[in-house]
Amino acid sequence: MSLVLHENLSLQPYNTFGVDVRARLFAEARSDAEVYEALSVATARGLPLLVIGGGSNLLLTRDVEALVVRMATRGIRILADDGEKVLLEAEAGEPWHPLVLWALEQGLGGLENLSLIPGTVGAAPMQNIGAYGVELKDVFAGLTALDRQTGELREFALQDCQFAYRDSLFKREAGRWLILRVRFNLSRAPRLHLDYGPVRQRLQSEGIDAPTPMDVSRAICAIRSEKLPDPAVLGNAGSFFKNPLVPAELAQRLRGEYQDLVAYPQADGQVKLAAGWLIERAGWKGFREGDAGVHRLQALVLVNYGSATGSQLHGLAQRIRADIVKRFGVELEMEPNLI
Ligand code: EPU
Repeated sequence: MSLVLHENLSLQPYNTFGVDVRARLFAEARSDAEVYEALSVATARGLPLLVIGGGSNLLLTRDVEALVVRMATRGIRILADDGEKVLLEAEAGEPWHPLVLWALEQGLGGLENLSLIPGTVGAAPMQNIGAYGVELKDVFAGLTALDRQTGELREFALQDCQFAYRDSLFKREAGRWLILRVRFNLSRAPRLHLDYGPVRQRLQSEGIDAPTPMDVSRAICAIRSEKLPDPAVLGNAGSFFKNPLVPAELAQRLRGEYQDLVAYPQADGQVKLAAGWLIERAGWKGFREGDAGVHRLQALVLVNYGSATGSQLHGLAQRIRADIVKRFGVELEMEPNLI
């Protein structure tokens, strides 16, 4: 038994918003055995268990009356390699971007579009992380999770996970599944995804005609760094709202009013709107009240300039939501988990 327990610990270093609330009890789990130990401790103390990864998708609005367990398991391994296709497995506590770099350094492509996303491997399937035309589900090979209801391990294949835009079974059944390790289908000859946003343009401007996965990763890091604040410098949780899906009629009506509306028609007939565009258009970009604000370069990102509380950030988010409903008739859904 080696789990180290901390009473009444500040969670400020463990959430990328940098919100200063306390956990009644805190521990880092470095092995499966410590994960099981944490479950026993929580039961023995009569506390709920809150499992966190990099804390990059969390909004903490008050002290957490729970045992907060930060997944700190490490390990990356190749399970199968036929010379072209490679099956990679990583422990839940591995930080995401270093995993992407590790794979690229081994000559393995597939994760490059997901470069520089904050967070951990275990959190990635929760909201099916995605960027620049690729989602986790596109490279997902499987995962092992602990069913907290029964204490049993369960293997999940792609079709079991109900992955959708920023959504999964694990998010829908919040608190039930504790993801221990995730497997990825990677390739030494990957098909590159260059069509989304400014990726191809960036590569061309650098004179790269036949990009490697590493080139794509570098381009995406550069694009992200230009617009998205580094949580180490300015507290934030990435996109604060999902891009909303609306009926085609509403999108058409809005287009009539706003010619520059950013809208992406979906296969099912709905239309995805750029929430950042709506929020900017409503005048919130760069807004600041106390230490809670809307980023000046990307309106989809709420930021903590220093000592904003979770409630202040949440209050700002609610005001933005209400304003977007009033102006456009569109409901925005929060992306981070509200605790
Ligand atoms: N836009 C504005 N104003 C803004 C922000 C965006 O008008 O302040 C417009 C842009 O001009 C563009 C469109 O909205 O036409 C889309 O913007 P962008 O390409 O920056 O992407 P996004 O829709 O704002 C989504 C993801 C990001 C991901 C990027 C790139 C969501 C909620 N967000 O953002 O994911 O990196 O696409 O694929 O889907 C995250 O989830 O934390 C995240 C950063």
